Amino acid sequence: VQASDFQKILLNWAQSQGRHDLPWQIDPSPYRVLVSEIMLQQTQVATVIPYFERWMKLFPTLKDLAIASEDEVMSLWQGLGYYSRARNLQKAARYIIDDCGGDFPSELEDLEAIPGVGRYTAGAIRSFAYDHYGPIVDGNVRRLFSRVFAIEGLANQSAYQKQLWFIAEHLSPAQNCRDFAQALLDMGATLCKAKSPACERCPLQQDCLAYQQQQVALFPSPKPK
Ligand code: ADE
Repeated sequence: VQASDFQKILLNWAQSQGRHDLPWQIDPSPYRVLVSEIMLQQTQVATVIPYFERWMKLFPTLKDLAIASEDEVMSLWQGLGYYSRARNLQKAARYIIDDCGGDFPSELEDLEAIPGVGRYTAGAIRSFAYDHYGPIVDGNVRRLFSRVFAIEGLANQSAYQKQLWFIAEHLSPAQNCRDFAQALLDMGATLCKAKSPACERCPLQQDCLAYQQQQVALFPSPKPK
């Protein structure tokens, strides 16, 4: 499938079937996107929503987070797990205030210099906050690409990761970047699910190599025991 067709199919699907009312989609400032993406890294959307709302009440701006006490930050995070994420978020806020003059970076390279921000989060901030070109590969995207392009590999293999990022860079549009990124995640989360994917409703069905080979269940490769 060609990049331009892939983009059209996803954007079209997302208009009617995508998620449009998640709290971090409202006023998607770089700060709000950063916080939501870090929370969503190891935690489900439904769990994250109330934490995100409370966080934004207590720390509405990057500055508020930078000057908060560690106790305040950690008590708000209580129950979300992976507590280093909370400490990193505060480090990130202090880094942007102290080392970037309070200006949230917008280039991929500068974003990746923020503590706790890797390639995925940098791309997500580019796409969701700035609506700029920003490829993303997370677990949802990996599953979708593995199936559509029938690529085998394990999440921790660098050749496989390289292929996935190559595809993401190739498929990411220069326009409608925000809608495209959200469409990718929504499709991975709601159609191209790990268990019982909804191929019958999938607009990529005809383009999906795994589907054509009747091997959807074999992608992504299962973890060896
Ligand atoms: N998972 C990671 N980022 C997300 C987003 N922006 N919306 C929904 N799920 C997500």
